[in-house]
Amino acid sequence: MAKQVDKNDGIIVIRNLVKRFNGKEVLKNISLAFEKGKTTAIIGPSGCGKTVLMKHLIVLERPTSGEVYFKGERVDDLSERELSRIRTQFGFCFQMGALFDSLTVYENIVFPIRQHHKVDNWREVDELVKRKLAVVGMDGYQEHFPASLSGGQQKRVALARAIALDPEVILYDEPTTGLDPIRSDVINELILKLQRELKITSVVVTHDMHSAYKIGDRIIMLHEGKVIADGDADHIRNHPHSVVQQFIHGQVGEADLAALRLGGTRFQTQYGPEDFE
Ligand SMILES: Nc1ncnc2c1ncn2[C@@H]1O[C@H](COP(=O)(O)OP(=O)(O)O)[C@@H](O)[C@H]1O
Ligand SMILES: [Mg+2]
Repeated sequence: MAKQVDKNDGIIVIRNLVKRFNGKEVLKNISLAFEKGKTTAIIGPSGCGKTVLMKHLIVLERPTSGEVYFKGERVDDLSERELSRIRTQFGFCFQMGALFDSLTVYENIVFPIRQHHKVDNWREVDELVKRKLAVVGMDGYQEHFPASLSGGQQKRVALARAIALDPEVILYDEPTTGLDPIRSDVINELILKLQRELKITSVVVTHDMHSAYKIGDRIIMLHEGKVIADGDADHIRNHPHSVVQQFIHGQVGEADLAALRLGGTRFQTQYGPEDFE
């Protein structure tokens, strides 16, 4: 019998997770436990499985084999209806800044609230929206449409939306992508603030090492569907594995260099737009 998972093992536990798409193994037997109140950064090259791993944490993808637990309860085999109860305890910022364009900032934040609660006191909702926007420094922008905001402001509103239901866990997928260093740092500070003030557990997928070092109590590196490094910033900085060193220093690996040497046509087919996100 496999050992039962209980709450003390971690707020989220994944065990022996394997994920295949059309026979291609994307996650190769991953076991991890995420500690309550901590921020974990997940790093790794494009296409290594970071987003797929993150989606399993709220069962937006189901494992090919293996299990996912939330607070000791197995969740990967729950029905969609039961999952919606679990998901209210999560805030997610996937494609952060992906607000509903046709809705105002106010309506964007009310959206998840209305999905899960019958609203009968709009005064209270106004107050709540105001409080959430204040957390990210955006109170006063209620009537603005997303298109009139900067990229950084949109991400902050997305963050306010993610905390609308007072989640215990927030999942961020590439929260600083597309932002300049100063605006990225505003997002890093907000992630830290939410952890400090609201004791939120965070999992952050990023390929921004500055961000990973700054916010991560723990950094996990994925490579070809496996965990190849797992520890605090110093552990990662001093990691002996050449793949880890190349990644954190932004160096091109041997295989990529060999492909570049092959020249023209191969080069063009090797990279897709997602490599330059
Ligand atoms: N729904 C899907 N169907 C088929 N393949 C997928 C699907 N989602 C992701 N993949 C593949 O899984 C691999 C990992 O993807 P992903 O987790 O998005 O990478 P990243 O680390 O860049 O976030 C990629 O090769 C991707 O093409
Ligand atoms: Mg991704």
